[in-house]
Amino acid sequence: MIKISPSLLACDFSKIGDEIKKVETAGADMIHLDVMDGHFVPNITFGACVIKSIRKCSSLPFDVHLMISEPLKYVPNFADAGADIITFHAESNSDIIKTISKIKECGKKVGISIKPKTDTKILFPYLKYIDVVLIMTVEPGFGGQAFMKNQLQKALILKNESQKNDFNFKIELDGGINTKTIEIIKNYPIDICVSGTCIFKSENMASTINKLKLR
Ligand code: DX5
Ligand code: ZN
Repeated sequence: MIKISPSLLACDFSKIGDEIKKVETAGADMIHLDVMDGHFVPNITFGACVIKSIRKCSSLPFDVHLMISEPLKYVPNFADAGADIITFHAESNSDIIKTISKIKECGKKVGISIKPKTDTKILFPYLKYIDVVLIMTVEPGFGGQAFMKNQLQKALILKNESQKNDFNFKIELDGGINTKTIEIIKNYPIDICVSGTCIFKSENMASTINKLKLR
């Protein structure tokens, strides 16, 4: 079964605590938190202090997606705020090995994400050290964009590499995932799907999450 990580980017921020509780009750497996700095991506969202204050609203794992230029510098802040998985971008300015080590030092799971134009192969030297690869299926920065199905090829390349070497990382997809696009995704080796707009704008969150989960 695919695990579902609803992205709070599409929630009603005036009642963020209730929104988190609602997706938890509706069957979410984790909570996806999109951190944007207005530099790595052309949008600004929230940082560690917001995450710290909403940590008490849920016992689900916090899946923190850092779309920021200097992730290495901020890893301890997000770890202290209550992140469980810290995912940073391979295209950021931070040294990849140092960032992986810092996240591990903080006792958190490590994810690396790649943008649509980034070659999957750049991840190969790091796959043995990490817990998650987050494949972007939209250009990072905004919710509600169209799913780029040509990115699914990356999942096959990663799965093949994982099986060949007995690696343990999970494959996560992020962007444009809804009850229609999930039908294509189900033919690929995907462990976790992030979904924002489709879940938070749906009439019945539980049935939407359930549709997204079932293979
Ligand atoms: C985009 C974010 C995604 C996004 C997903 O930069 O990383 O997590 O919020 O939202 P939807 O499901 O609306 O594409
Ligand atoms: Zn995201």
